[in-house]
Amino acid sequence: MAELKNDRLLKALLREPVDVTPVWMMRQAGRYLPEYRALRKEAGDFMSLCQNPEFACEVTLQPLERFPLDAAILFSDILTIPDAMGLGLYFETGEGPRFKQPVRTPADIERLSAPDPEKDLGYVMDAVRVIRRELNGRVPLIGFSGSPWTLATYMVEGGSSKDFRLVKAMMYDQPQALHQLLTVLAESVTAYLNAQIQAGAQAVQIFDTWGGVLSPDCYQAFSLNYMQKIVSGLIREHEGRRVPVILFTKNGGQWLEWMAETGTDALGLDWTTNISDARNRIGGKVALQGNMDPSVLYASPQRIRQEVGKILQQFGSGDGHVFNLGHGIHQFVEPEKAAVFVHAVHELSQDYH
Ligand code: CP3
Repeated sequence: MAELKNDRLLKALLREPVDVTPVWMMRQAGRYLPEYRALRKEAGDFMSLCQNPEFACEVTLQPLERFPLDAAILFSDILTIPDAMGLGLYFETGEGPRFKQPVRTPADIERLSAPDPEKDLGYVMDAVRVIRRELNGRVPLIGFSGSPWTLATYMVEGGSSKDFRLVKAMMYDQPQALHQLLTVLAESVTAYLNAQIQAGAQAVQIFDTWGGVLSPDCYQAFSLNYMQKIVSGLIREHEGRRVPVILFTKNGGQWLEWMAETGTDALGLDWTTNISDARNRIGGKVALQGNMDPSVLYASPQRIRQEVGKILQQFGSGDGHVFNLGHGIHQFVEPEKAAVFVHAVHELSQDYH
């Protein structure tokens, strides 16, 4: 494998010194880029992009051609696991993801088993291998998965949800069934992330997009508990380097201490948490990733630079910060604004290292 030329991301995730703060954006490859929209059109639909390793590689590299990002993130989706379990994932235009066979009863859950990553999700591992080859050591590649709880919400609801009616009814009325589902998902995610690491992912992030809709007790029992199991089961060293793990619970700011206890290397923060407070609370234990409101990218270049400067100042001097948005970049952001953001992080962070 080619020597890693820019390892700022890996160093910052391990709270080691860097020259400037590394930066990447959640959903950095996606619809805000005209070249992404063109390739998706060529592929036909979103899943065809994901399932063709050459296309997935091209999309992964698109934002890196435009901006000096410090990481690539595998182009795929969190819902590949339930799809491989036989739920039949499809995307309804404008309505987001849907499953043909949602999981609604204990009998439905009984029938599920953990997919074999190389056999059932081989297209993802092939994409990782092709991307590593094409990156040729430019920046590290981040692999990812959804958290068991977040995957379960989609599997039980049959798609996106606003109120989580079905999955929460299951949680309160049939907790054992939900625990069984989360157990098989935790096993699946562990195997999936380990396969990504073995294929070449150099850091991994667990997206717990919907952990923040739970009460504190339920968050511990139904989300954090399973992420903890995954962190404990991950390969932590590969190719002679530590493979850092990032946990991101959207709206999980009040639970950072619990999350830091899992043994993760870093925590992702959304913009509802002050990064200075977060550093005071858990900065001695884990690195922090975040946390600019993605909507700042709708504002003027001057305003974007100001917000970047504010977050850098809030984090303060020293190590352990990876700059990111607090959630995925919006599809209506102009790519030029993303350029302003990335350049501002590198330029303005020099004084803090
Ligand atoms: O960050 C990256 O650039 C990597 C790619 C990535 C995608 N999805 C590509 C994608 C990642 C990391 C994801 C994760 C994902 N997928 C999450 C967790 C992250 C988060 O945002 O909290 C969730 C909840 C999903 C499920 C999912 N997939 C949704 C809700 C949607 C959007 C549907 C819509 O129409 O808005 C998708 C589709 C999807 N995944 C797109 C992309 C670029 C858009 C598909 C398209 O229309 O081209």
